[in-house]
Amino acid sequence: MEQIESRVKNLESRRKQSRLSTLATSDSQIVNLSKIQKTDYKRISTSMEEFDRVLGGPARQSPDGSSRMAGGGIVPGSLILVSGDPGIGKSTLLTQLALNINKPLAVSDSLLAAKSEQRKANSSSVLYVAGEESAQQIKIRVDRINPKASFSILSDTDVDNIIEAIGAAKPTLVIVDSIQTLQTQDLESIAGSVGQVRECAHRLQLIAKSLQIPIFLVGHVTKEGNLAGPKTLEHVVDVVLSLEGDPQNQFRILRSTKNRFGPTDEVGVFEMEEGGMIEVKNPSKLFLESASRRMEAPGSAVAATMNGTRPLLVEIQALVTKSFLPMPRRTGSGIDNNRLQLLVAVLQSRMKLPLFDKDIFVNVTGGLRVIEPAADLAICLAIASSLNDAPISSKTVLIGEVGLLGELRPVRFLDKRTSEAKKLGFTKVISSENAKSLSEAVKLVLGK
Ligand code: TYD
Ligand code: MG
Repeated sequence: MEQIESRVKNLESRRKQSRLSTLATSDSQIVNLSKIQKTDYKRISTSMEEFDRVLGGPARQSPDGSSRMAGGGIVPGSLILVSGDPGIGKSTLLTQLALNINKPLAVSDSLLAAKSEQRKANSSSVLYVAGEESAQQIKIRVDRINPKASFSILSDTDVDNIIEAIGAAKPTLVIVDSIQTLQTQDLESIAGSVGQVRECAHRLQLIAKSLQIPIFLVGHVTKEGNLAGPKTLEHVVDVVLSLEGDPQNQFRILRSTKNRFGPTDEVGVFEMEEGGMIEVKNPSKLFLESASRRMEAPGSAVAATMNGTRPLLVEIQALVTKSFLPMPRRTGSGIDNNRLQLLVAVLQSRMKLPLFDKDIFVNVTGGLRVIEPAADLAICLAIASSLNDAPISSKTVLIGEVGLLGELRPVRFLDKRTSEAKKLGFTKVISSENAKSLSEAVKLVLGK
């Protein structure tokens, strides 16, 4: 115990002496809130509408003034964590971001921009800290995306060296790939340990705030879905974005799970292609373009979900088959398994559906993860449709939370969900507005 304390004290004093102490504001002062000027963050656009939306911020007019775009972007000085499974595309997405932001001064501008201030305003630079891959590997990735573009790379894993480099170069944006590879000599533990990851993130947070430079951190998640080691890292950063998707599928979903500057659960949709991540501007349409929708197969239902401020229509598929196991299987992919168990129990006891000897598989197509209870009704109807071998009309959309008594509960933003469905050609909306219970909904949809 004593040993740990002395080590911590040691660290504290070294921190004080280190370059960080000059960066952190040292004079503490009490101020009244009324004296604080409200600042509108000058957000930096990622030049990807899907990405900007997830970062949050006010909507803006499209360049031609005809429509409103999602708006939003990176808040200066913020620390943003991008987490996801290995191989899902974190480095690819952030490489694209680096290429979009890194804008060298155009030649004509450089003649005009005699003053350094003006020069700074016209150019923007990105520093990509590569702890995981060699500069060569990053070059190969950049060549796949845009062979003509470029940015600066720093191959180092010592966080204090990195901070010094940031202080000297003062780039517009820093990307650290990944936080798990960084370490400080001040701690004895190895890179990737909870202590190292937290301390490194904390030091980067200080430099980000003091120099007003936004820093993106890449973080890998473990099999359990936690950020490797430190879930606590989420408290250090301002924004947590998770990149999700089924590796077998080309769709990738960027979701904000924490955002000090905008709403959470906002999603951006991308497709992983040969030349990087391509934005998907109308994801509902794409998610519903499956063969099962076209042929009206039994077991397919459409839910209208909300992700942040954005309605998304998704197809939910269910397969109900005779089980030969003592404990029949209930397997959900893209939905919470506990929720699935609960809904099956409701279908069994309130609707008297004979599911006790059936294996049940439920899948959200497109690799999307649906976390809100508003998809309950679609999940239940997909199961009922598969069990009865009766298809649901391809013009029907289902919206509603199912309660333990089999009642249908109203959901938030019904108008937004309904209008998105109408836009996509759905003519029949089943919700708590026209069905009070699950059995009423089943009658309306399947006629039984
Ligand atoms: P990567 O960004 O390296 O994943 P992460 O950083 O999350 O571990 O991307 C991994 C996969 O993406 C890799 O298998 C190759 C594929 N990929 C593409 O399909 N298109 C591309 O343009 C690039 C750069 C990668
Ligand atoms: Mg990577």
